[in-house]
Amino acid sequence: MTDYESEQARDSAQPECRIVLLDDNTANRIAAGEVVERPASVVKELVENAIDAGATRIRVRLLDGGKRLIEVADNGCGMSAEEAVLALQRHATSKIRSADDLASVATLGFRGEALPSIASVSHLQLVTKTAACDAGCRVIVHGGDIEGADPAGCSDGTTLAIEDLFYNTPARLKFLKTTPTELARSVETVGHLAVSHPAISFHLLHDDQTVLQTPGAGDAIGALAALWGRETARTLAPISGESNGVGVEGFIAPPDIHRPGRSHELFYVNRRPIRSRFVSHAVEDAYRTLTPDARYPVAVVLIDVNPLLVDVNVHPTKMEVKFTNDREVHHAVSQSVRAALSGHGQAPTLTPPRTFGWRSSGREAGAVPSSLVDAVWTPPSAPEPGASSVAPSLGLPGLSGDPFAPDPEATPPEEAGSGPEQPFGEMLRGFRVLGQARRRARALRAAAQGAQRAGHPWSAAGGAVHCGAGSGRGGAGAPEAARLP
Ligand SMILES: Nc1ncnc2c1ncn2[C@@H]1O[C@H](COP(=O)(O)OP(=O)(O)OP(=O)(O)O)[C@@H](O)[C@H]1O
Ligand SMILES: [Mg+2]
Repeated sequence: MTDYESEQARDSAQPECRIVLLDDNTANRIAAGEVVERPASVVKELVENAIDAGATRIRVRLLDGGKRLIEVADNGCGMSAEEAVLALQRHATSKIRSADDLASVATLGFRGEALPSIASVSHLQLVTKTAACDAGCRVIVHGGDIEGADPAGCSDGTTLAIEDLFYNTPARLKFLKTTPTELARSVETVGHLAVSHPAISFHLLHDDQTVLQTPGAGDAIGALAALWGRETARTLAPISGESNGVGVEGFIAPPDIHRPGRSHELFYVNRRPIRSRFVSHAVEDAYRTLTPDARYPVAVVLIDVNPLLVDVNVHPTKMEVKFTNDREVHHAVSQSVRAALSGHGQAPTLTPPRTFGWRSSGREAGAVPSSLVDAVWTPPSAPEPGASSVAPSLGLPGLSGDPFAPDPEATPPEEAGSGPEQPFGEMLRGFRVLGQARRRARALRAAAQGAQRAGHPWSAAGGAVHCGAGSGRGGAGAPEAARLP
């Protein structure tokens, strides 16, 4: 056998290489599997981008619970034409420069994954303009393929329209829930972000009807009133504390106001909404013996920690974080809530503390699902069939115009916190997961407790509570009850 022949024989004996590098589009779709679970995930990513862009007004429009259309418009910094195209590439971000920056991320996004992931499973249109550019730019993407980028007349800021989410991934599409359920998730998502960004005005419309609108006056109570209704917001008392460098701010409701799940436990780390079982535990521990079993407090807890002590890069949707000093965080939260409760004459009776963590907490056993998604909600008034003014095609009217110009078709927004209950408040009131008998018993108990009070849920402690002192609404230090009549 010649040298050549033996080389040939050796090569043919080697197994063919089975490993290939996936193309960008496939990689994006895989990433989308983690980042984009449902319309609310898209809403979260786009609204977070708008917040990171420094917007003061953010409008979210949904059709069919976001399954047909999600449109997020902001008046933030916008992008140049080159940036707009680059933003749709995987790992393109303006928020970090190197791995070192991950340790101290101050923005909500940082991975450069959201836009390409969303674009790979939808029809996407991006219209954007910076104040420095004379003209804007429109980029159209179908299933991850950029179809075109053209100049466009538009106002400063960015509008993203996502149509037919999961049109090319039928397995995902099949798992989307009903319109009210998907809508409730998006409302929850926008509401949570609004509470930690009270200086931004959020406006969420569904089928051109206002579902949630926050005043953007810098007052978290105003955002909470829009989200939960004024009745609940009026009961909230502020919490404030600091321990071992962990700051805690927020609001709690009196113990006789409780929920069947954790839907009204809102937690934030450096203004980033998070889910955390041990922060839940810290709050519930402070309420122990004050709330009935299998009921959960109403609490908004904003934790302020050195960014170096928290890893925000541990969860696909960034909803969970890892604290270096979790015991200190637990202690600070628990102490702050406890102090606020006892400051209002509500101290837990002395019983052995629940074991740290969730394993042995009786509360978790058989807990009612915390999420709003299991609830059934009928929109305040059903839209007329075909009444939407937003066309489902990518020539969305109004997309290149001023997204914040008054929309004659939209339901006139009520001023949050000053008019009648907000629709989402109604939605929450509509949730009924316990039986009639239980509600009646609760009402009787509340009536008995109420008889001891002088008109305010906390007045047992001797007077109205001052919430959001210093805000423009109602004047500095105005009693909460006065500001939210
Ligand atoms: N509404 C917006 N206004 C201005 N710039 C935006 C907007 N949305 C996106 N961008 C730009 O596009 C980039 C990519 O956005 P994308 O959401 O994909 O990634 P990211 O926000 O950097 O990180 P993450 O994937 O964690 O969200 C951003 O870094 C930002 O520079
Ligand atoms: Mg982002």
